[in-house]
This record gives sequence, structure tokens and C-alpha cells, in this order.
Amino acid sequence: MSSISTFPDVMEKLVSLAKRRGFIFQSSEIYGGTGSVWDYGPLGVELKKNLKDRWWNAMVRMRDDVEGLDAAILMHPRVWEASGHVAGFTDPLVDCRNCKRRFRADDPKIKGTPGAPDAQCPACGMKGTLSEPRLFNLMFKTFMGPVEDTASVVYLRPETAQGIFVNFLNVQQSTRQKVPFGIAQIGKAFRNEITPGNFIFRTREFEQMEMQFFVDPAGNHMEWFEYWKAQRMEWHRLLGLREERLQFHQHDPQELAHYARAAFDIQYDFGGSLGFQEVEGVHHRGDFDLGRHQEYSGKKLEYFDQPNNRRYVPFVIETSVGADRTLLALLVNAYREEQVAGEDEGRTVLALHPSLAPVKAGVFPLVKKDGMPEMATRLASELRRHFPVFYDESGAIGRRYRRQDEVGTPYGITIDGQSTADQTVTIRDRDTLQQERIDATRVVEVLRERLAT
Ligand code: GAP
Repeated sequence: MSSISTFPDVMEKLVSLAKRRGFIFQSSEIYGGTGSVWDYGPLGVELKKNLKDRWWNAMVRMRDDVEGLDAAILMHPRVWEASGHVAGFTDPLVDCRNCKRRFRADDPKIKGTPGAPDAQCPACGMKGTLSEPRLFNLMFKTFMGPVEDTASVVYLRPETAQGIFVNFLNVQQSTRQKVPFGIAQIGKAFRNEITPGNFIFRTREFEQMEMQFFVDPAGNHMEWFEYWKAQRMEWHRLLGLREERLQFHQHDPQELAHYARAAFDIQYDFGGSLGFQEVEGVHHRGDFDLGRHQEYSGKKLEYFDQPNNRRYVPFVIETSVGADRTLLALLVNAYREEQVAGEDEGRTVLALHPSLAPVKAGVFPLVKKDGMPEMATRLASELRRHFPVFYDESGAIGRRYRRQDEVGTPYGITIDGQSTADQTVTIRDRDTLQQERIDATRVVEVLRERLAT
């Protein structure tokens, strides 16, 4: 549990901005919405893609010891028996016999002890109607093939990791990687969370970016654990998440998941009453998963260490980060309301890292005449070959700047009276508000330089 943060709660403002500007919409909104499922709009999909690209580049493309994978969501049902999810991926829940609502047994809104006559339902207020806690599995079930019977039950994966474990030897043998090496993937995961909420913080359908790093159990596996902890924290810092809002949280033995020997969360301070919460888990999974898949499948999942003529089941260091949850941290981190010197109206800014911003530059003719729109549209189409840009000629220039500030566009290119005479444009920086005049032919080069940092 986290304590109340010293940072303000901006969640409500973000939900409204996200909808108004096309980042995130509630799923099936016209039907009243689907509980804790969200859709990404035009700007949201770009932001999420940029985030996933940064992860993929850092974890796969820029390393020679990590390979990529895209495993299917539907897997053999025995996978989830082996992984421990059928037996152990549960939450203790209580039902209200009166209003039929269901709550986590540790819901702080429940007064009294569930099952006892004094216990009061937090929804309908009746006393004595709450059942004793029962274990409820969080995996979504469905049926594969034409027959809906117990033999055809399959699960929507609750984590992407298992697709990596069952492909461990396929990837290792096809790439001829040697331990230590890793396998990474990005994909959807599904959990029938009972207390979802806080916008996209905890949802029933979400995306994970996971990497399993296979190491020698007789070697320096704890050093690799420390290495990945440090690497992953640095990645969050480089996204621009503020240093003082990031921390590690070590799992004590009661908190450890069934597979973990050691675990640290990377937490971000989301502000308000949410405070510090996990965005990523770094887990030492030992040989639990490969060992269990060997046992349940009857197939050996051993690595052959040729130089030493040894066969062994590697240990696994896992890094597991939620794309949606990190995106929420980025929005919280970037959101600012401020006064602008010399202007009556304040502005809302999303100070997103330029590499993450959905639109890299706004292109604005100062007025809709004197050749300015023509020069601006020409420039916008040239820039569009290199970056996502937004052309806007409607309304006062100050308002157009503010519209882009609010969605995190780092640069504004303005074509004014001087531009048509000498082929120069001004480039405005979202954060410093400084404007600089540069040659129109240099815009691509200047933007590229600034976006690379
Ligand atoms: N394979 C390990 C694993 O899945 P986890 O701590 O359960 O570990 C890892 O999940 C990350 O996935 C979390 O840190 C969080 O960012 C994200 N995540 C988990 N459940 C989520 C949910 N219901 N909604 C959004 N993100 C979630």
C-alpha cells in the first residue's frame, strides 16, 4: 500500500484531456462502456507505439544478446497448469448475497469480517450478507473449436512470459545464442481484475513488454539480477520520468509471486492517494518455469553448454513492464498547467520526451494569405516524409500553439511575412517558448538533431 503523495492528483484532468484530444477513449462508450477496458485514439496509438519502439530498441535492436519473439495469445491449456496459474493465480473474494456484487476480501471499504453477521456490504450497505472469502481465478476462459465442453477450454494469457518459456529452445537453437541470453516480446495480456480502475492503471486487457534472460544456475545469476534492475531503472529515467518520482520496492517473502526467488518493483509516484505504485517487476524466477514445463510436457528444456560438456536448465531473470501503465506514468509526469508571461490565458502542457511525442512538429502559416499557407503546406508535406507533423491554419497563432502544447508537440514551425520573402521560418520550443529563425531548407535537419537527444 502506498501513502498519499506530495504530488497532486491529476488523474481526472488527464482522463478528460485524453478523451478530448484523442489519446484514450472508454471502450464501447456508446453502449455505456466496458468495465476497465480502454481504446487508444489517434494520438494515443502514436504515443504507445513510440513507447513500445523505445523498449524494443533498448531491449532487442541495440543488443546482441536478446532476441525478439511474438508468441500467440492462445496457448495449450497445460501451459497454465505448469505455470501455476490454474492453481495459484487467484484473489480471495467475497460475494454479497443481497446485491450480488463481488469484492476483494481485503477491500478497505468492507466493515467487519466477511462471513460474520456484523460485516457490511460496501455497495448496498446490508449487514450479514457478505460470504466468507473464496478464491477466484483471474484468468479469462474461452473455448477452442466447435464444442463448448471442459476439454476445449483455453485461457487468454495473463502474462506474455509463458510464450517465451515454451519457445526457449526454438529460439536458442534457431539463433545459436549462448547462455547468457534473453528473449523479449511485447503483447496483450488479460486478467479478470476485480478491483480494476484508476483509468489505464489497472485494466482487464493490457499490454506487457517482457524479457526473460537465461543464465547459468552455477554462475553469477545474482549479478545479472542486479544488472537488469539497474538497466531497467535507467530506461525509465531516460523516458523522462522524474528521478524523485521513481523508486525500487523489494518484495518481502509474503509478497513474492509463486515463481519468484527475489523480486523488486520499479515504482512511480502517480500523485494523490495512488502515490508510489509498480510500473515494472524485475524477478528472479530461478528454474521454476522451465522446470515445470519440462515436467508437464515431458520434453527436455535443457541448454547444452558445449565447451564444458554440461546440460542444465537455466535460471531466468525477468523484466516485466506494462505498456499502458508506463504510458499513464508518462502522462502524469508530463502534465503541467502554467501561466505564460505576457498572456492572460494560461496553458496546459504535456512535457513529453520529444521521442515519445505523438506529433513532432506543428506547422502554422501566421495568416491565411500572402502565400503563407502555400509555403506552409509545402513544408508540412516535406516534413511528413520524415516525422508525424500537424498542419494548422485556423484561429489565432497563440491558440494554435496552445493546442499543440496540450498534446505534447515539442516544436512549432511558423511561416510568417518574412518567410515568403527570404525562405526562413521560426521554430518554437514547447518547453522554453524560445523562437529561433532558421532557413526553411534546414528544418528537417534541425528537427532531426533535436529529436535525437
Ligand atoms: N510475468 C510477470 C508478470 O506478469 P506482474 O507484476 O504481474 O508480472 C508486470 O505484471 C507488469 O504488468 C506490472 O508491473 C504492470 O505494469 C503490468 N500489469 C499487470 N497487471 C496489469 C493490469 N491489470 N493492468 C495494467 N497493467 C498491468
